[in-house]
Amino acid sequence: MTAPHAETVRPDQDARAPAPLLTVRDLVKHFPISRGVFRRHVGAVRAVDGISLDVFPGETLALVGESGCGKTTAGRSILRLIEPTAGDIRFDGVDVRALGGEALRRLRRQMQIIFQDPFSSLNPRMTVGAIVREGLTIHRLAEGQAADARVRELLDEVGLRADVGSRYPHEFSGGQRQRIGIARALAVEPRFIVCDEPVSALDVSVQAQVINLLEDLQRQHRLAYLFIAHDLSVVEHISDRVAVMYLGHIVELADAVALYREPIMPYTQALLSAVPVPDPTRERQRIILSGDVPSPANPPTGCPFHPRCPHPRKDEACTRLVPPLEEKAPGHLAACIKQTPTAVSWAEQQAAGGTSPPERVMPSSSGA
Ligand SMILES: Nc1ncnc2c1ncn2[C@@H]1O[C@H](COP(=O)(O)OP(=O)(O)O)[C@@H](O)[C@H]1O
Ligand code: SF4
Ligand SMILES: [Mg+2]
Repeated sequence: MTAPHAETVRPDQDARAPAPLLTVRDLVKHFPISRGVFRRHVGAVRAVDGISLDVFPGETLALVGESGCGKTTAGRSILRLIEPTAGDIRFDGVDVRALGGEALRRLRRQMQIIFQDPFSSLNPRMTVGAIVREGLTIHRLAEGQAADARVRELLDEVGLRADVGSRYPHEFSGGQRQRIGIARALAVEPRFIVCDEPVSALDVSVQAQVINLLEDLQRQHRLAYLFIAHDLSVVEHISDRVAVMYLGHIVELADAVALYREPIMPYTQALLSAVPVPDPTRERQRIILSGDVPSPANPPTGCPFHPRCPHPRKDEACTRLVPPLEEKAPGHLAACIKQTPTAVSWAEQQAAGGTSPPERVMPSSSGA
C-alpha cells in the first residue's frame, strides 16, 4: 500500500517572497531499460521521480545529494537538454515543456548551464574566443568587431586576460577552463544558470576562487543559480536555500541557515554530520550510514531512505508509505512520516504496520 504524494507545501506561499523565476512541479525523468535484439522494454531507471522546487530571481538554490541521486538529470531536464518524462516547468511564467524550435532557442538564452567537467565541456578544436563568441552569434547579440570587443570584456569579467581568446582549451588549467565555461554561459546574458558541480573537479585551492567569481557575477547580474553539489560543505556559504535529494526525490528543502542549524530528515543529518565544523570544541557526531544507495532501477518501496535510515522510530510503515515533502517548521520542508507534524496520520501508519508513533525526534541533535 502506498500513500499518494500529498500536495507539496511551497516556499512561495510565503508572503515576503517575490514571484519565482523558475517553478518545477512533479518533474519525472525515467530512462527506459531495454534488453535483447528487439530492445524489449524491461524497466526504467527512475533518475528523477517527482521533484518540485522554485528558484527565485537572484537566489542560489543548492541541490545536494550523493552521486547518482539524480541531480544532473534534474538540472538537464529543467533546461530540456534531455526530455523530461513528466512534470511541469515554468520559467518566468512560460511553459518550458510546450516550447519547440525557435521559441525554445530564445528561452535557452535565459537559462544556461555550467558543466561539472571543465575538460570535456569545451570543444578542443575551437579557440577560447570562438567558444565564448558562439552564443553571441547564435542569439544574434553581436557580430564583427562588436563581438570581438564583447568576448574580450567577458574574458576580463571572469578573470582571464583578454588575449587568451586565440588559444585553445588544452592550454589552460581546470580552474581557467571553468572560467571559460562561465564566460560562455554569461555571454548570452542569462537570468538563470544551472551550475552542475562546477568546482567538484578542481583543486581545493582553486574551488574558492571559482565560487567567489560565481558569487560576484550573481550580484552584478542578479543571476539565479541552481547550484548542484554532492556534499553540503561546498554550498554552505553560497546558498540561500538548500534542497537535499535522495534517489530521485527531494527529501528536505529549507533556508540554508535553518537546514544547517536544524536538519530534520535523517539523511540530511547524516550528510551534515560529515561537514567539518570550524570550531573544534563543537565537533559534530559523525553519522555513518549503513549500506549503499539502492539502484534507481529498483528503488525501495515506501520511504526511499528506509533501508539505511537510523531513525529510532523507523518501522514497517516506513517501508510501505511514501513520505510527502511537507512543512515541519515554517518554510522548512522535509519528507519523514516519523517527524511531526505530518499529514500521514498515526491511524494510517498503523494500518500500514506502523508500531512507533511519529514524534518530534531529532536523532542527531538529541545525541541519540
Ligand atoms: N542517459 C542515461 N541513461 C540511463 N541512465 C542514466 C542516464 N543518465 C543518468 N542515468 C542514471 O540516472 C541516475 C541519476 O544520474 P545523475 O542524474 O547523473 O546523478 P547525479 O548527478 O546526482 O550524480 C544514475 O543511476 C545514472 O546512472
Ligand atoms: S520516513 Fe521512516 S525511513 Fe523515512 S526518514 Fe523517516 S523514519 Fe526514516
Ligand atoms: Mg551529476
